[in-house]
Amino acid sequence: MSNPLHIPFERFPDADELPPDEQELLRAALEATELAYAPYSRFQVGCAVQLLDGEVLTGNNQENVAYPSGLCAERTVLYYCGAQGKGDQLVKMAIRARSSQAAIVQPVPPCGACRLVMFEYERMSGRDIVVLMQGESGEVLRVTGVAKTLLPFSFDIEF
Ligand code: THU
Repeated sequence: MSNPLHIPFERFPDADELPPDEQELLRAALEATELAYAPYSRFQVGCAVQLLDGEVLTGNNQENVAYPSGLCAERTVLYYCGAQGKGDQLVKMAIRARSSQAAIVQPVPPCGACRLVMFEYERMSGRDIVVLMQGESGEVLRVTGVAKTLLPFSFDIEF
């Protein structure tokens, strides 16, 4: 028997339609792309995380000449969040990307490895996380709940 999977998401042609805190989070994520270290891919990703008390933490991709040793923006900021003892306080995330090679005008959804990490921090936080995705410009994609939207059937073990 087939069970169609329904993945709810919202598209906003213009970021101005979003609430002020989400516009601010998207701005912070774009600003974070400035400090990305991406000399190999020339693809700069920024991620901003909003915590329960309104604090915003940012991160970006950090590459390495040994390519697999690099880390995506999303995991950089989430692990920093965890390292600060705040991994259970996630409310919203914004992900932006730009490139010196081309105009990134489409949202850039997170890679599979980042989705797994987002899933776990969402579970720790105990609430559905809002994830906003946008290129350097263009439409915004908005989802609520990593497990419900970006990573259904995720790998998980109860300990
Ligand atoms: N990248 C991210 O930072 N986040 C993603 O979700 C996908 C890819 C980075 C990794 C690498 O530094 C560059 O983008 C090109 O893949």
